[in-house]
Amino acid sequence: MKNLIDIMQMSPEELQELVDRAMDIIANPAKYADACRGKKLATLFFEPSTRTRLSFEAAMYELGGNVIGFSEAASSSAAKGESVADTARTVGCYADIIAMRHPKEGAPLVASRKAGVPVINAGDGGHNHPTQTLADLLTIYREKGTFENLTVGLCGDLKFGRTVHSLISAMSRYAGVRFVLISPEELQVPRYIITDLLEPNGIPYEEVTSLEDAMPELDILYMTRVQRERFFNEADYMRLKDSYILTPEKLRSAKESLSILHPLPRVNEISVAVDDDPRACYFKQVLNGKYMRMALILKLLEVNI
Ligand code: CP
Repeated sequence: MKNLIDIMQMSPEELQELVDRAMDIIANPAKYADACRGKKLATLFFEPSTRTRLSFEAAMYELGGNVIGFSEAASSSAAKGESVADTARTVGCYADIIAMRHPKEGAPLVASRKAGVPVINAGDGGHNHPTQTLADLLTIYREKGTFENLTVGLCGDLKFGRTVHSLISAMSRYAGVRFVLISPEELQVPRYIITDLLEPNGIPYEEVTSLEDAMPELDILYMTRVQRERFFNEADYMRLKDSYILTPEKLRSAKESLSILHPLPRVNEISVAVDDDPRACYFKQVLNGKYMRMALILKLLEVNI
């Protein structure tokens, strides 16, 4: 694997290798402190980010490498009209590996064809966010010890939430996984997820609107933000933004073993009163993201330890 553009490029076995590597990094950080000495990561972020950009940067520093890049299109020559392909080819002259976030679906794929160095999709429009899925998977593994036989509820903006699309794809390959897709009708998952992935592979799923009704059966609850930046009209956003707000009261019917995930940032969809619940895993997820990005950088740079 030379680039990571879509999580489905990785087999379950390769994902398990990354999880195992991340677990070893957690257990033995000193072993990896010089692993990328002399290497440079470029973070090319054409859209806002806190977790993804900073965790990539922290990951590279903790591997002994260096980081260059920009955090908004306005401070790059994209503002003068430079294409993604030319930007990627240019940055490939300076860096050993690139992490790119872009509002246009497919932009990291275009970059990967021109950069001459590995390119990681750090989120492309409403399409995919494979490294968030890596963070999600490590969190699930650390909480549950398995990816199999889980009922996974995904709640909120399932239409524009790129993390949802990548996570369903990845989890759909494990035995005994069942999805409960909880959203307003307007924000249901794109139809290709149903017609090209779930139905042809016989993966059990339900599309429902009530979080309360679904709650008792869930092993994982993956909450998501309504993606304001992808809406065409503010009135629709205002109408739908508070469709689901997770509170301690709503968790009363949940399993004791439930794990609550959220890719963050959160706006209003999880009450801060839930943060102290032992089932809340979303800040653990943030940290797990750094470890999985470290593991991914090592893999793509072919660093063997
Ligand atoms: N989860 C996630 O992608 O967060 P950021 O937008 O802050 O990077």
